Amino acid sequence: MGKVYHFSKNAVLGTLVLAVTALATIIALSVAYHKERANNQSKPGNGASGTSSTSAPPTTPFTPKVPWDYYRLPKGLKPESYNVNLWPRLKPNSDGLYIFTGNSTVVFRCLKDTDLIIIHANKLNFTNFKGMHAKLSSHHEEAVPALQKSWLTARTEYLVVQLQSKLKAGAMYALHTEFMGELADDLEGFYRSEYLENGLKKIVATSQMQPTYARQAFPCFDEPAMKAIFNITIIHDPDTVALSNGKEKSHGVPVKVTTFEPTEKMSTYLLAFIVSDFISIESSTSNISIRIWARRTAIDNRQGDYALNVTKPILQFYEKYYSSNYPLSKSDQIALPDFNAGAMENWGLVTYRETALLYDPMLSSTENKEKVTNVIAHELAHMWFGNLVTLHWWNDLWLNEGFASYVEYLGADYAEPTWNIKDNNILNDVQKVLAIDALASSHPLSRKEEEVSKPAEISEMFNSISYNKGAAVLRMLSEFLTEPVFARGLSSYLNTFAFKNTVYTDLWDHLQQAVDNTPGLDIPRSVSEIMNRWTLQMGFPVVTVDTQTGTVTQKHFLLDPDSVVGRPSQFNYTWFIPIKWMKNGVDQQQYWLLDKTVSGEEWVLANTNVSGFFRVNYDLDNWGRLLSQLNTNHQVSHVHGCGSIYKHIIRHCSANKNTELSQLDQSECRNDTAEPVAVSQYSSMLVHSCVLLDKYVLGMDTSNSILPSTGGRGRHLEQNRTPLRHGNKCCLFLPTFKQPDRKISLVCYLNNKITMKTYICIIFAPLLIKTYKIPAFFAGKWIKKIIFHQNKATSLFF
Ligand SMILES: *[C@@H]1O[C@H](CO)[C@@H](O)[C@H](O)[C@H]1NC(C)=O
Ligand SMILES: *[C@@H]1O[C@H](CO)[C@@H](O)[C@H](O)[C@H]1NC(C)=O
Ligand SMILES: *[C@@H]1O[C@H](CO)[C@@H](O)[C@H](O)[C@H]1NC(C)=O
Ligand SMILES: *[C@@H]1O[C@H](CO)[C@@H](O)[C@H](O)[C@H]1NC(C)=O
Ligand SMILES: *[C@@H]1O[C@H](CO)[C@@H](O)[C@H](O)[C@H]1NC(C)=O
Ligand SMILES: *[C@@H]1O[C@H](CO)[C@@H](O)[C@H](O)[C@H]1NC(C)=O
Ligand SMILES: *[C@@H]1O[C@H](CO)[C@@H](O)[C@H](O)[C@H]1NC(C)=O
Ligand SMILES: *[C@@H]1O[C@H](CO)[C@@H](O)[C@H](O)[C@H]1NC(C)=O
Ligand SMILES: [Zn+2]
Repeated sequence: MGKVYHFSKNAVLGTLVLAVTALATIIALSVAYHKERANNQSKPGNGASGTSSTSAPPTTPFTPKVPWDYYRLPKGLKPESYNVNLWPRLKPNSDGLYIFTGNSTVVFRCLKDTDLIIIHANKLNFTNFKGMHAKLSSHHEEAVPALQKSWLTARTEYLVVQLQSKLKAGAMYALHTEFMGELADDLEGFYRSEYLENGLKKIVATSQMQPTYARQAFPCFDEPAMKAIFNITIIHDPDTVALSNGKEKSHGVPVKVTTFEPTEKMSTYLLAFIVSDFISIESSTSNISIRIWARRTAIDNRQGDYALNVTKPILQFYEKYYSSNYPLSKSDQIALPDFNAGAMENWGLVTYRETALLYDPMLSSTENKEKVTNVIAHELAHMWFGNLVTLHWWNDLWLNEGFASYVEYLGADYAEPTWNIKDNNILNDVQKVLAIDALASSHPLSRKEEEVSKPAEISEMFNSISYNKGAAVLRMLSEFLTEPVFARGLSSYLNTFAFKNTVYTDLWDHLQQAVDNTPGLDIPRSVSEIMNRWTLQMGFPVVTVDTQTGTVTQKHFLLDPDSVVGRPSQFNYTWFIPIKWMKNGVDQQQYWLLDKTVSGEEWVLANTNVSGFFRVNYDLDNWGRLLSQLNTNHQVSHVHGCGSIYKHIIRHCSANKNTELSQLDQSECRNDTAEPVAVSQYSSMLVHSCVLLDKYVLGMDTSNSILPSTGGRGRHLEQNRTPLRHGNKCCLFLPTFKQPDRKISLVCYLNNKITMKTYICIIFAPLLIKTYKIPAFFAGKWIKKIIFHQNKATSLFF
């Protein structure tokens, strides 16, 4: 699935003020924290169960007794292929209900004698065949056991068929069902999306199967390892078009029945069915037909052009990067008016929110364009990693999503080489999740298979740790192995397991082989030993470099140092840490912190480019050397180092002033000759920084304060005037470019009083301007003044 945008909504991070980028993470932090708490509090299971299973009262824990009580399928049956016919009705029936009807035949192999067929089904009404929900037939000449009874289980979402005698191991059978479901507007399974076009309400039938909703469209073995071939037919009105994973094969006469080429062997969660009156634009590479689908007006207004433009280079990039051809003959991407996630990587038919695929050169911001590129690159990365080779079970979701979240930047960078996407955005991921993972309540990337079985537990896996820490840790791995070695291991993994399922250690094995086949590449432990420290225990270390004593130490970093870590770790919260570092401005050989120490008089800058997933602290003297170095030669540290330096400066700066002002001198603020500058998204980032400062410097909790909505990166300046709210919180005033005294001021509005603290610090502005090419407009235009009106800041002066 694409990025989970509800995180980024509040915490879309700036590229202008790197430091602020780091600071803004605190928003994501509180969001994630609340989510986590909500999840922990929601008690699993609704207790309701099927007709013949014993249902426990909701208050006592449920103990599974019979096979259909378990959330995981028994291992005795394995699907080979399905024939699925679906007929969505885009007009309500006499009860005002939008429905679909369908039938499905699944051919499966029996691996172990059993008199029970358990297959997922949810929210479907079945046609009865002599009192049974299904019909069983032999696929070849096998004798077919008669059905004894059949029923549905609501809690575990199964159709259960009890047979009078046993299916025989090795034999193939076919189970046929006919059913009806609601095309609800719940964004799950086969669902309905509505939009207005020229004042008319239009309906699209579309789908979202990941993680456990395919069972709402037709009965299926709905686990990622139950790969099969799907022969799909969709019945629809002649004036609509039907799309699915395969290419359209034939259209019935009159054009109402669309049959699709059989899919490759694939998982149910990657299926997609769509009926709409959308139109498309297309291009192709030598082997792949590429289409972008959207509402007619969107296509007519050329809003799909950009997506079409970048898809081709991105696909070509991955073919080369993975050394593996795109596995399908077509690549459809469609923009849906109602869509839950940012996007979903259905194999061959990727679904997107409109804002994640469409780009209007006249109306959209640069930020939108960047998002489109990234999301497309993310979803297309899954076509191989995730779709061609699929993780066995959802507990390894972090590898699937972390991987796509990492390589999306490589793909996007290839398509838009001038944007420096790699620099900006990986950092966003890293900084964002460093804040979340620094909580004692965080959790390891990797979970045990048995810890994740209920649909709710599976959905919980789609969190920022999986996406962002997954990406950060894989990036670190790629950095210490070097990218060519990483890519070689990856390619051998993909080629070995094509159309199959894996567990995460399979990837480590193939990366290890790539390491072993690379003379001169030395890593101090095996890939798996190193990575286990990062994936099996939560959190990350802070590495303290003491240049006085020459020691380097590591310690589990906790946002609140007093918090109690309840979760034990087999590694005692120590890590094998690859440290890229610089001395006197020169890159040094990668250093592995296993148990060694480093010494030296020269200033040291560790974790250059933030390539490792950890924080760095230094002795005060070294901080001083770093700061003076930064002041005299801004290029000496790659800008990525500064975000973390900055954070420490906030703590290490000595306050030289602590003035309490009854209020800001109004006359000074109100300079009528200066035009008030619109409070752009840029300044709302400053407000984000204030929140962090509240936590770090003042120990205040501002989680209830109302923040101006964001949604943009500083690079694109929109002229929205958003009032800057100024409740009990502080604002950070960065010095102007040319200001000689290098102060950072913190103006707080606390308990109806305005206080100001000024810290003597270094200037980041020149560095940032250099690196990020801030429009000249902004050079030296940090906020100088705020005008308060009724205790609210109403205007900012740059
Ligand atoms: C689906 O199509 C494949 C290839 O044409 C065929 O071998 C298979 O039997 C079909 N499956 C079903 C359930 O009809
Ligand atoms: C399944 O439904 C399709 C479309 O309604 C129909 O043509 C087909 O005959 C049905 N298959 C069976 C086995 O009933
Ligand atoms: C399925 O059956 C239930 C109970 O009879 C009914 O309320 C529901 O509307 C039916 N669903 C459809 C799509 O017809
Ligand atoms: C196109 O497909 C053919 C056969 O599948 C393959 O040999 C060839 O390498 C592909 N070409 C490209 C550019 O992917
Ligand atoms: C797409 O590419 C074409 C050809 O390079 C170019 O003219 C057009 O401006 C591009 N469209 C967008 C929206 O980037
Ligand atoms: C963790 O600490 C325990 C007790 O001090 C020790 O026995 C064990 O070897 C340590 N494990 C690691 C991986 O350092
Ligand atoms: C840091 O990143 C820059 C730009 O991406 C790159 O040129 C440089 O080689 C990197 N440095 C290290 C030590 O990886
Ligand atoms: C007011 O703004 C103008 C133009 O920016 C500047 O020249 C002038 O010095 C300012 N006056 C005060 C009192 O800050
Ligand atoms: Zn994804």
